Amino acid sequence: MQSSDIRKKYLDFFAAHTHALVPAAPLIPAGDPTTLFTSSGMQQLVPYLKGEPHPMGKRLVNSQPSFRTDDIEEVGNNRHTCMFEMLGNWSLGDYFKYEQLSWIWEFFTKEIQLPTDKLYVTLFEGNEFIAKDLESYDIWRSLGVLDNHIFYYPGKKNWWSRAGTPDQMPVGEIGGPTSEIFYEFTNIKHDPKFGDVCHPNCDCGKFLEIGNSVFMAYEKVADGLKPLPAQNVDFGGGLERITAASQNNPDVFATDMFTPIIKMIEDSSGKSYQGDFMSPMRVIADHLRASVFMIAQGLEPSNKLQGYVLRRLLRRSAVRARRLGLDAKKIFTECTPTIVNQYAEAGFIDSTVLPRVKEIINTELDKFGKALDKGLKDIERTDPKLIDAQFAFNLYQSLGFPFEITRDLLAEKNIVLNQSEFDQIFAKHKEGSRTASAGMFKGGLADHSETTTKYHTATHLLHQALIEVLGKEVTQAGSNITVERLRFDYTYNGKPTQVELKQIETIINAKIKANLPVIKTTENKEEAIKSGARAFFAEKYPAQVTVYTIGDYSKELCGGPHVDHTGAIGPITILKDEALGSGKRRIYAKIV
Ligand code: SER
Repeated sequence: MQSSDIRKKYLDFFAAHTHALVPAAPLIPAGDPTTLFTSSGMQQLVPYLKGEPHPMGKRLVNSQPSFRTDDIEEVGNNRHTCMFEMLGNWSLGDYFKYEQLSWIWEFFTKEIQLPTDKLYVTLFEGNEFIAKDLESYDIWRSLGVLDNHIFYYPGKKNWWSRAGTPDQMPVGEIGGPTSEIFYEFTNIKHDPKFGDVCHPNCDCGKFLEIGNSVFMAYEKVADGLKPLPAQNVDFGGGLERITAASQNNPDVFATDMFTPIIKMIEDSSGKSYQGDFMSPMRVIADHLRASVFMIAQGLEPSNKLQGYVLRRLLRRSAVRARRLGLDAKKIFTECTPTIVNQYAEAGFIDSTVLPRVKEIINTELDKFGKALDKGLKDIERTDPKLIDAQFAFNLYQSLGFPFEITRDLLAEKNIVLNQSEFDQIFAKHKEGSRTASAGMFKGGLADHSETTTKYHTATHLLHQALIEVLGKEVTQAGSNITVERLRFDYTYNGKPTQVELKQIETIINAKIKANLPVIKTTENKEEAIKSGARAFFAEKYPAQVTVYTIGDYSKELCGGPHVDHTGAIGPITILKDEALGSGKRRIYAKIV
């Protein structure tokens, strides 16, 4: 089956079970500093999973382009992609285990026609807080799943939250036990390198996870887990993997989502997709797809946060192109229209972005070419005795040189690098950045802390004040809130003067002092926009939206949360306003 048929079947199937289609969230979450990218369909639904009523109801479905930074290094095997499309369905306190497992079983076995004897399911074995999931076991058995196709695992495998197992969850984070579905490729022989006995979670590649039903019913509190106001379901399944299973082919890169790109790489390089060439071709196909999507949604390569991830993706794939004897600029230019078309056809992006995407990729590749020259000079200039694994890691960090490239350069000079030493430095670094991102996660908006809530409302006031002072040319181009400050990106071709900035600050503080009420309503999207409500162009909104109105001053489509009255914010001060390039500016403000 083709991926577009599967996507349609999934959305139609759950629509027939009265699920409302919610638009995909932007890949770079607006106003959510807790995470760099949208990595799961549930991310935009956190407040609703915690009990707030969703404007579209209690049964939701969508297909969500998702990106997982942690998986970048895994790409190259037959099943890992860092960018993927997650098919998701949710019950917000409506149905629970029985309906979810019955429907997802029906979808996989009837709609996609996966043979039942190739499907395996896994369940949570229980911990000190939550009992073993016997209820789901009975449901699976009643649906016809064979007893020896049901496996129990601990929290590391069958508990899901954005932070991992219950002990890793920060207070306020939500999660729950899961039941995953795996497809068995019976033609693949178990590789004993991964253990004596094969099982669904074995990493040998015989089993592929194609779906995860999370019974999202708990919130982390200081002394353990407490039940959420309602029992929710959060299901996610990777479209690339489901397509691979439907074709009984364990290689996701052999599905229609990737084959046009792989074919272009084969044709240009004169090499076939097999043996040693498979891995670099997969990296190019995956990373380029993700890069194109990110740029199409407004991101540009930089040395910070999401922009740095994009830079890494482009550089990593450029290095692979070089290894295949390809001119990266030429092959990326050839592949980009196909990727743009695929995502435009699926309704995620607008195909008019194509020229901009090509231009940004070309500019970045030019920069990388220069960095590459610089790296080669660094190697030339450095005393060979000082060239070691740490040196290779520094090149990797500063210029995006993968270890293999540095090694192959150096091999010509008869310098041998120690791969395991490099791996150790790399692993230590990865652990460090994981800890850092866990910190980011903890300090962010997910906790809906009082301070971030204040900043949310202040951002609406700032948005309106910018328009009032600088004119209608101003539109929102991004937003990011931490407990320390708010940051707001906006379109404006001029440069606001100091007087204008002061004026903006004065207006906001006057609105705060006036203690205006903040009213939340649910409205029809078109009507809300017609009535003057502000919206963020990068965000796709559902037909029914939540609208926040601040006195008679500001009206915006937004998921919240917000303070009840502006007086709760307290005085704010504008810290700085700077140019971002291409007609965009960035302004920072802080609650004093
Ligand atoms: N949130 C769960 C996951 O990402 C199910 O969608 O696996």
